[in-house]
Amino acid sequence: MAHMLLFGLAFICCSTKARKWNNTDTGSIIFEEAVSLPNLRPNTSHLNNTIRFGAFAAFSMHNATAAGVELRRAVTELGFLGALVNDYQQSGADNATLLYYDEPQYDAFWSVVQELDVPHPINFAVMLSNHIVGLCANGVFDRFPNLKVIVGHLGERIPSDFWRIDEMLARKVGIGMPMNKTFSSYWKPNIYETTSGNFATDLLNFHASLIGADHILYSVDYPFVMMEQGQEWVGTLRISPFEKWNFIRGNAILLLGLVPFQKPEKPILVLEVRKRGQEPFT
Ligand SMILES: *[C@@H]1O[C@H](CO)[C@@H](O)[C@H](O)[C@H]1NC(C)=O
Ligand SMILES: *[C@@H]1O[C@H](CO)[C@@H](O)[C@H](O)[C@H]1NC(C)=O
Ligand SMILES: *[C@@H]1O[C@H](CO)[C@@H](O)[C@H](O)[C@H]1NC(C)=O
Ligand SMILES: *[C@@H]1O[C@H](CO)[C@@H](O)[C@H](O)[C@H]1NC(C)=O
Ligand SMILES: *[C@@H]1O[C@H](CO)[C@@H](O)[C@H](O)[C@H]1NC(C)=O
Ligand SMILES: *[C@@H]1O[C@H](CO)[C@@H](O)[C@H](O)[C@H]1NC(C)=O
Repeated sequence: MAHMLLFGLAFICCSTKARKWNNTDTGSIIFEEAVSLPNLRPNTSHLNNTIRFGAFAAFSMHNATAAGVELRRAVTELGFLGALVNDYQQSGADNATLLYYDEPQYDAFWSVVQELDVPHPINFAVMLSNHIVGLCANGVFDRFPNLKVIVGHLGERIPSDFWRIDEMLARKVGIGMPMNKTFSSYWKPNIYETTSGNFATDLLNFHASLIGADHILYSVDYPFVMMEQGQEWVGTLRISPFEKWNFIRGNAILLLGLVPFQKPEKPILVLEVRKRGQEPFT
């Protein structure tokens, strides 16, 4: 909270990766461990009533059906805004079996994500760009056209390779790859980027030109990158106030289903946000 007041933040959506699960766990929320700073530690009962914090749930992805059940509980009962998962799930006695979410059994999970209409961030890993390619190439977005997936670190560099990936995958579609569109065309309807501490202005502009500024959200990657670094960087951006507002607030409000409203007691127009379904703060 002190950080938020200091750095002008109205609302933080916290997330963690599900790092503690071994292959016998079936998935319960570990949000209590989500954030390392004590004053950024809302527990799940706070999630329903804070105007300052939201969070993505985290859970095991061993069993797609169980993961879907857990996502539904997290969103509809506990007030989470979506879920963040690692980009693959380790499995098997020696953790050596890797489960990828473009495999058909994960359709049971994706159908719940689409039905709840919540965004689904996938956590950074060196291989993540391959897995995003996999979701597209294996037709997940064809089967679930309203899915929304968030990729951090300015899209893990994937948009830089759009032309080449499109060209290479087009050759495979003819020989059975179950993908109904070109790779880059899934980006606009289905995939969003966050900055996640990658505060490179040139890259931001380049990515906005490729995927649209409305698909890029400001995020900090705290505690790896500091809130004040983000605030300083945003201050240097030479974009219109409207574009800046969308980048640091508006796009997130739309994507996360937050509800902007005006706080009447303030002398100047101050927009606060509420989670979907909550009454405006009075
Ligand atoms: C996995 O976690 C469960 C409970 O969280 C524990 O009972 C079990 O011993 C753990 N198994 C391994 C292989 O670490
Ligand atoms: C969680 O938040 C509730 C509501 O503010 C509070 O009563 C409870 O003590 C908190 N629990 C923990 C473990 O911090
Ligand atoms: C959050 O709100 C929902 C709906 O109002 C309620 O059913 C649920 O019990 C609440 N959860 C917590 C953790 O307070
Ligand atoms: C997966 O989870 C579902 C729902 O919890 C359960 O019915 C099913 O038995 C689980 N499958 C396996 C292989 O554990
Ligand atoms: C499997 O992963 C768990 C959780 O990361 C870890 O505690 C365990 O030691 C791993 N097991 C093996 C055999 O590597
Ligand atoms: C994708 O294309 C194939 C072949 O044209 C078609 O059979 C299938 O229904 C399409 N899938 C979707 C989800 O549109």
